Amino acid sequence: MSEEVRVRDDRSRTLAQALEEHLTEWSERTGIAVEIWALPGRDVPAAFGEVVLAVLAEALSNVERHSRARVVSVAVTHGHGGLRMTVSDDGVGFFGEARGRGVTAMRAHFHRLGGSLGVNGSPGEGTTVTGVLPRRG
Ligand SMILES: Nc1ncnc2c1ncn2[C@@H]1O[C@H](COP(=O)(O)OP(=O)(O)OP(=O)(O)O)[C@@H](O)[C@H]1O
Ligand SMILES: [Mg+2]
Repeated sequence: MSEEVRVRDDRSRTLAQALEEHLTEWSERTGIAVEIWALPGRDVPAAFGEVVLAVLAEALSNVERHSRARVVSVAVTHGHGGLRMTVSDDGVGFFGEARGRGVTAMRAHFHRLGGSLGVNGSPGEGTTVTGVLPRRG
């Protein structure tokens, strides 16, 4: 196996592992349950991984501070269409548009790589963060 292939494999494993570790620690600390619906496999570009971890941290910080949720569901998939990330909670949600430095920073991370991100609150039902990054190369 060439060095390049091994390095790429290591990185993609690291993203899935990093996500799992981060979510497990966060859940233990906050007492909010985490359901992992999907984790990315191989071939995730390193730049995608960095953005996913940064956005996840802010999304979870918002769940902890604002949502009063009992469960948060997380899915990160990577395939022909690119990368898709969803963080969904069953908390209080909110009315209207999310405005703040956290949401602005999450959007900027995805825009920088040509993608898009939305934060949708449904009052009384929860909040969903959805981001998409177009496939690279
Ligand atoms: N998971 C969530 N549940 C309920 N409300 C949320 C959630 N995520 C975001 N919000 C609402 O959207 C607003 C904007 O979020 P944003 O992260 O931009 O700002 P913030 O968390 O208030 O402050 P900071 O700039 O420190 O992140 C929040 O103040 C909150 O009202
Ligand atoms: Mg915030």
